[in-house]
Amino acid sequence: MNIDFQELADKYQTPYYVYDFDYITKQFNELKEAFKARKSLIAYALKANSNLSLIKHLAKQGSGADCVSIGEVKRALKVGIPAYKIIFSGVGKIDLEIKQALELNILMINVESEAELERIESIAKSLNKIVRISIRVNPNIDPKTHPYISTGLHENKFGVDINTAKRMYIKCKNSKSLEPVGIHCHIGSQLTKLEPLTEAISILASLLKNLKAIKIDISFFDVGGGLGIIYDNETLIDTQEYAQMILKELFGLDITIVCEPGRFLVGNCGFFITKVLYEKTNESKRFVIVDGAMNDLLRPALYNAHHKVELLNDNKDISDCNLVGPICESGDFFAKDIKLPSSQHNDLVAIYGAGAYCFTMSSNYNTRPRVAEIAIEAGKDRLIRQRETFEDLIALEEKFL
Ligand code: LLP
Repeated sequence: MNIDFQELADKYQTPYYVYDFDYITKQFNELKEAFKARKSLIAYALKANSNLSLIKHLAKQGSGADCVSIGEVKRALKVGIPAYKIIFSGVGKIDLEIKQALELNILMINVESEAELERIESIAKSLNKIVRISIRVNPNIDPKTHPYISTGLHENKFGVDINTAKRMYIKCKNSKSLEPVGIHCHIGSQLTKLEPLTEAISILASLLKNLKAIKIDISFFDVGGGLGIIYDNETLIDTQEYAQMILKELFGLDITIVCEPGRFLVGNCGFFITKVLYEKTNESKRFVIVDGAMNDLLRPALYNAHHKVELLNDNKDISDCNLVGPICESGDFFAKDIKLPSSQHNDLVAIYGAGAYCFTMSSNYNTRPRVAEIAIEAGKDRLIRQRETFEDLIALEEKFL
């Protein structure tokens, strides 16, 4: 990756996000290749980064979409991801979303409770449709990741336990409106250990065999997302080993493997570029204040997440500092107690690992316009989301004055 951040700053101003689309292609192909021995569908988790140009790029590679709102489903369709590659998940779908998902005839709806299954059945009945159902099983496995992004324990709100899942499959089988086609689990994000995934998949595989014995045949095994990426010095799950483990667990079952990666595909393709406004030092601390803030990139403030930071100048006098934004909160920081060289006004700072869960979690807090997004493909840059303006921010309020 050889991106001229300064040239982009001169052209598009700061702060901005830049994504290397060739890196996304590489990640996609690596995963697709790992599963090549079996029928598989890589359904990109749009929540990681739902920029239309970025998902269009993935659509061209053959990606499907894992969506958690009807808005995401519509984004996927808009860029040409076919309905038969779209999955709709989420613990709390509203009636209108369910109705629209049925009308759009997507691949399957991932169901997360018995109550939701009832609701879906009655909506399907009223529309005279048969809906393809997948059930999200919560295997009660500790994925050994940050508690906020851990989702496969019974203390988490996600999915249903094995016995409930069994009841739900039987209900589907006996219903004229529900067709059970999939089984799903997603135990957490930024996973760096294979064992919890193996355990979860093995639990689901035995459920699948039980279902087969009662003549419920499932066609899609959705292993969720969760593959971790490098932010710091993590040891990653090897994609070959990951795929081999899944193939082994599913040996003898005629089933399509669905995988829903978000971060793995896009996390390390992205950089957040911000510029130094000022430095200030008090008796105990040096602060480097930049023009980007927690509203642009929330992960450090929300999860105390580590993102590698680089100050792009040649200064040699390095000292400890906190890298902070201009927002009126002490949580507005990108990094604490890191070593950076001395800086001047307008020096650029690159924040790494900013392709996933960064722009999508940004907000307009402090009436700050969301920043520009730029793609690099085959060495060429292009704008893929223009910087918001003050007028954009007030547009939905102004008319009520
Ligand atoms: N499938 C389901 C059902 C999910 O809930 C998620 C992520 C994914 C797939 C994609 O997971 P990935 O491959 O990206 O790990 N905002 C947090 C991450 C939240 C993840 C939520 N679910 C962060 O910034 O770390």
